[in-house]
Amino acid sequence: MAAPLMLYIAAGAFLAYILYTRLTLYLTRSAFKRQNDCQPCPYVFNKDPVLGLDVLRANIRHANTHTVLEGNEARFKNLGTNTYHSRIVTMPIIQTSEPENIKTILSLKFKDYSFGAREKAFAPLLGHGIFNADGERWANSRHLLRPNFARDQVADLDAFERHFKLMLQHIPTNGVTIDLQELFFRLTIDSATEFLFNHSTNSLRMVSQHESDNEDVVFSKAFTHAQADILTRIRFDFLYKFTKNDVGRDAVKICKEYVGKWVDDAVRWREEQDAEKAAGGQKEEERYVFIHELAKQTSDKARIRDELMNVLLAGRDTTASLLSNMFFEIAKRPDIWMRLKEEIEGLEGRLPTYEELRGFKYLKWCLNESLRLHPVVPGNSRFAIRDTMLPLGGGATGAAPLFVPRGTLVSYSPYTMHRRKDLYGPDAHLYKPERWDTLRPSWEYLPFNGGPRICLGQQYALTEASYVTVRLVQEFSKLESRDEGPWREGLTLTCCSLNGTKVGLVK
Ligand code: HEM
Repeated sequence: MAAPLMLYIAAGAFLAYILYTRLTLYLTRSAFKRQNDCQPCPYVFNKDPVLGLDVLRANIRHANTHTVLEGNEARFKNLGTNTYHSRIVTMPIIQTSEPENIKTILSLKFKDYSFGAREKAFAPLLGHGIFNADGERWANSRHLLRPNFARDQVADLDAFERHFKLMLQHIPTNGVTIDLQELFFRLTIDSATEFLFNHSTNSLRMVSQHESDNEDVVFSKAFTHAQADILTRIRFDFLYKFTKNDVGRDAVKICKEYVGKWVDDAVRWREEQDAEKAAGGQKEEERYVFIHELAKQTSDKARIRDELMNVLLAGRDTTASLLSNMFFEIAKRPDIWMRLKEEIEGLEGRLPTYEELRGFKYLKWCLNESLRLHPVVPGNSRFAIRDTMLPLGGGATGAAPLFVPRGTLVSYSPYTMHRRKDLYGPDAHLYKPERWDTLRPSWEYLPFNGGPRICLGQQYALTEASYVTVRLVQEFSKLESRDEGPWREGLTLTCCSLNGTKVGLVK
């Protein structure tokens, strides 16, 4: 008799505890909402209120037809709002394209958010380097890497020229059609690996990437597969372990071994330096070398490898995508090509200096406009780790603050925001560099993110993209599009042109 009684008491106590915690949570949240004037958001996208399976189905359909971004923009438009609620399986989601909300997530209430599930998917390739760390760990990574992005380091124009010259050899000078996108991707992995590992993959030295199986080429291909593996992990989530994705798993291993080798070299170099210093004969390194700078600060090889892999992931496809998207648009507009020519004519055929590159106003407008219309990171999200709020999105007009319960995924869309007519005018969907003559956007323009986690490689990327553009303008008199269709999204972790950048160039 005593045993069942104990059981009843335990069950009763458990129930009372649950009720108590629920009630306390309810009261605390009600007070929070009252104090902050939060109002519910009336705009809800999902029709299936339990699992949001309709959202899942719509997302799959858009992914298959390469219309994820378009579909997302249409949802905002059809609902007539800039912030709405949605749900996938058990995850409540708030979607927003509101500059003030994005500023709140990334800057004002930065500490209320983490990366959430994204960390698990990125971890096999990236470990817990800068791109995949939160809190103190992230702060340490940022502190370690930041000095390496100072102006002198990112302005190595000689290196860009070397890689550009190799790229030039692949471009027919008589107008025969070529896919510039493929070359841009090879150029950026070559320059980024030289910048980071002190050893370039030199993929542009090959006639084609399929030609060789030397370890640099194997690495370049493996890195592409390893990135695709991240995407598979994000899409399949807990079902990933049932997929037969051996290519992805092997690729991660190849990448780690390859980068590990350069890290071994760098740590050995550091040890030799230390030994020379102890013997009183240390000589300073003449040239700045990214991987050596990391080895000077830590001898934790896995840490150096992870950070390098993170920066390579952050920096490789992004710059290539910017160039591909921009040339897709410029190739359709001879007037823009001519205006660029006029601007760059001042060099009289000379190679540009860093200062001259920065001074080309129209070139800057072209880059800005490409990143506006086709942001390379078109969507992003953060996971609320405590109850918090957004300044806009609540109430019938969306003008009131909105409560964000802990455990909500807040997804934001630079793509939709950059195409909002109320922010950029009725021609927001057109590629029009001239609009930058008067535009001075703040949080409504966000290609490189904002707040404490703003992109570290922004100057590196803009310098490389500017350099390559100036040199192509100098080398060729005519640029012609060989793609009759409009730009379509090629969405992976970043976004480039689905059909590549098919052009003809004439010397
Ligand atoms: C057009 C080119 C680029 C674009 C549009 C771009 C965009 C971005 C964006 C949106 C983020 C924030 C990601 C997030 O927090 O979820 C980011 C972060 C980052 N980017 Fe870039 N990026 C570009 C090029 C580069 C390059 C070339 C490098 C390095 C060589 C680089 C290094 C980084 C790093 C290290 C971070 C992580 C910063 C942190 O979390 O503190 N990026 N980038």
